[in-house]
Amino acid sequence: MQKILTELQNRNSLIKIILSDTKTAEFKKIIIRPILIKNNLFWQFEKHTQNKVYHENIQDVEFLELIKLVLQEYMQIAFFYTGYTVTFSGSKGKYTKSQSSNNLKEITILDFGCGKSYLTFIIYHYFVYIKKIKATVIGYDLKEDVVQNCNAIALRYGYENLKFYVNDVTKGNLYNKPIDMIITLHACDIATDYALDYAIKNNVPFIFSVPCCQHEINQQIRSNGDFDILLKHGLIKERFCALLTDSIRAEILSQNGYSVDLLEFVDFAHSPKNIMIRANKTTRKIINFDIQTLCDKYNFKQTLWQLQKNPKN
Ligand SMILES: C[S@@+](CC[C@H](N)C(=O)[O-])C[C@H]1O[C@@H](n2cnc3c(N)ncnc32)[C@H](O)[C@@H]1O
Repeated sequence: MQKILTELQNRNSLIKIILSDTKTAEFKKIIIRPILIKNNLFWQFEKHTQNKVYHENIQDVEFLELIKLVLQEYMQIAFFYTGYTVTFSGSKGKYTKSQSSNNLKEITILDFGCGKSYLTFIIYHYFVYIKKIKATVIGYDLKEDVVQNCNAIALRYGYENLKFYVNDVTKGNLYNKPIDMIITLHACDIATDYALDYAIKNNVPFIFSVPCCQHEINQQIRSNGDFDILLKHGLIKERFCALLTDSIRAEILSQNGYSVDLLEFVDFAHSPKNIMIRANKTTRKIINFDIQTLCDKYNFKQTLWQLQKNPKN
C-alpha cells in the first residue's frame, strides 16, 4: 500500500488511474482523471457499475484521503503516464509493482520551445485523429502561463497524451524514454542547438527543426579570411551568420549519421525564418567539413558543436 501512496504523491504528470478487478466494491471499475475547473485541479471519478456510469469531481486537497479509502477493494490499480503505465496487482494492502510501455505502435514527439503550441496541437491531432497512431506529444517552454494555458486546452479537448511542461531546455531534465521525433519551430537562438544535441545523443530517428534568432555567431565572429567581405555590412553579416549557423548544425547532424535536407518550409513571404532542417537517422556518417578549424579561424564558439564535444551534456 505504501508503494501506491508514494506513486500518488507524484500525481502531477498522471493521465489517469484505473482501479479494477474487485469482488467487494460497489463499482466494478473506477477511472480517475485530472480535470481543471475554473483553473483549479479536481479529480474526476468515473464510477462504473454493470450498466451505469457515475461522475464525481473531487478537489485535489481531498483526493488522497478519498482514494486511500477506495483503493483496498481493488486488486489492480494502473497509473497511466505519458508513454508508460505503472500497475499494482495484489490485494489487502500487498501489491506487486510492474511497468510497461503503453502501446507498440506508439510514437513519442518532443517539441522544444513550443510557445502557444499551435503546431504542437496540430501534430497531435494529425497523428492521433488522422493517422490513428497512438501519439504522445510533449511540449517544453519557459513560460509558465503559456504552458498552463496549453495544458488546460489539451484537457478541454480530451487530448490525453498531449502534455506541456515548464522547462528550460538548456538545463537538461528532459524526457528520458525513447523518442521518435523532435520538432522545433522558431525555438530561440541556442534552444535549437540543445534540441539537436538531445536528438543526436538519444538517437532520435526524426528531426524537423526550423531555427530562428541565430545570434550566437554574429556576436562573436571576427574577420580572418575568405568570408570577410560578408562581414562588412551588418545586415549581410547577420544573414550570413544565420546561414553559417544552420550549415554547421546540418554538418554536425551529417557527421553523426543523419541524412539532412535544408528546405524552405513556407514561402518567404509568410516568414523570412523559413529554413527547415529535416533529418533522419541512418547508419552513414559523412564528414565534409572541419568545424573546429572554422570556429578557430573566425574566432567563434557554436553551441551545438560545443555540446557535442562534451558527451556529458
Ligand atoms: C518564437 S517562440 C515560438 C513558439 C512556437 N514554437 C511557435 O512556433 O509558435 C519561441 C519559444 O521558445 C521558448 N524558448 C526559448 N528558449 C527556451 C528554452 N531555453 N527552453 C524552453 N523554451 C524556450 C520561448 O519561451 C518561446 O515561447
